[in-house]
Amino acid sequence: MQQHNGGPGSGPSRAVRLESFGGPEVLTVQDVPEPQAGDGQIRVRVTAAGLNPMDWVMTADAATAARFGLSLPAGFGTDYAGVVDQVGAGANGYTVGDRVFGAALSRAVADFVVVDTDGNIASGVAHHTPDGVDDRTAATLSIAGSTAAAALDVLDLGPQDTVLVGGAGGGVGVFAVQLARIAGARVIGTGSPSTAEYLRSLGVEPVAYGDGLTTRIRDLDVGPVTAALDLHGTDTVHAARELGVPDSRICTIATVIEGIPAANGANAAPDALEHIARLVASDRLRVPIAATFPVEDIRAAVELQAGRHVRGKVVIVL
Ligand SMILES: NC(=O)c1ccc[n+]([C@@H]2O[C@H](COP(=O)([O-])OP(=O)(O)OC[C@H]3O[C@@H](n4cnc5c(N)ncnc54)[C@H](OP(=O)(O)O)[C@@H]3O)[C@@H](O)[C@H]2O)c1
Repeated sequence: MQQHNGGPGSGPSRAVRLESFGGPEVLTVQDVPEPQAGDGQIRVRVTAAGLNPMDWVMTADAATAARFGLSLPAGFGTDYAGVVDQVGAGANGYTVGDRVFGAALSRAVADFVVVDTDGNIASGVAHHTPDGVDDRTAATLSIAGSTAAAALDVLDLGPQDTVLVGGAGGGVGVFAVQLARIAGARVIGTGSPSTAEYLRSLGVEPVAYGDGLTTRIRDLDVGPVTAALDLHGTDTVHAARELGVPDSRICTIATVIEGIPAANGANAAPDALEHIARLVASDRLRVPIAATFPVEDIRAAVELQAGRHVRGKVVIVL
């Protein structure tokens, strides 16, 4: 096994842990034994961990946790970025010191995470972080980026499209709207009135969500809306149907509606994240980071995101 000696990795190891399922109040930072990389695994010294709603949804109650295979005591958080500091036998393609980002289900907010080099989100996934992508940004890519990519694959947008994106400024939205623009589509995005300028900065024509959405979109006079992506609930789906968008060109990620294709990040193309990381490295896609928090402030970070009005991503720094 290749291993770093001294420096980060030889001191106490912190991890956000839960002894019971519940809200932010059950999250504590604990000293834990350093995990060790086994065969086919790498250990990552985590420097940043991005939050997603799934992190606190899956740990909110025992029944939901069980559906994700979690039991107590549990870890917290899934998106991470950092530096490889141990390489197990047969973990080909990685060297101590490599910068990586990825996903490790409900254990990423920790000083160390061990992931398989040939794994899935449960056993852990790692990708090399390209030069030009800092760790805080890399820590936001996996869940939201792969979900946006999967949704865009369903819609198959091109320059002939005008797409309506509901919840355009959130964690998944910032990836979805920029990928749609890169595909050549015109993007109408819903947000609260105060987010209009921010949405414009992402290449989006803003429209306020809420009652009267369909009328407001018609008033924009943008011609036919040809596709839609609902990242928040069902309102965007209903508006799209009223605007004549066929169900096959509407996609959801947060709810299931009969007849409407649902996208899941797990179904993204195998190279989707490398593609997104390259777009970030070449400044063609940017990830707004609304706030960063030290790990000790994990509860405040979760409370901010759970308010559901974050612009872009929330990141924990370790
Ligand atoms: N299927 C999957 O694989 C998958 C993966 C990731 C996420 N998800 C789910 O997808 C949803 C979005 O995730 P996310 O990370 O983007 O969440 P997020 O970052 O918390 O989303 C925040 C965004 O939601 C917007 N919003 C709030 N109320 C709204 C409303 N009534 N109508 C429309 N937009 C509204 C906010 O806009 P303002 O700030 O302007 O109010 C903000 O831009 C979550 O439910 C998450 O669990 C599913």
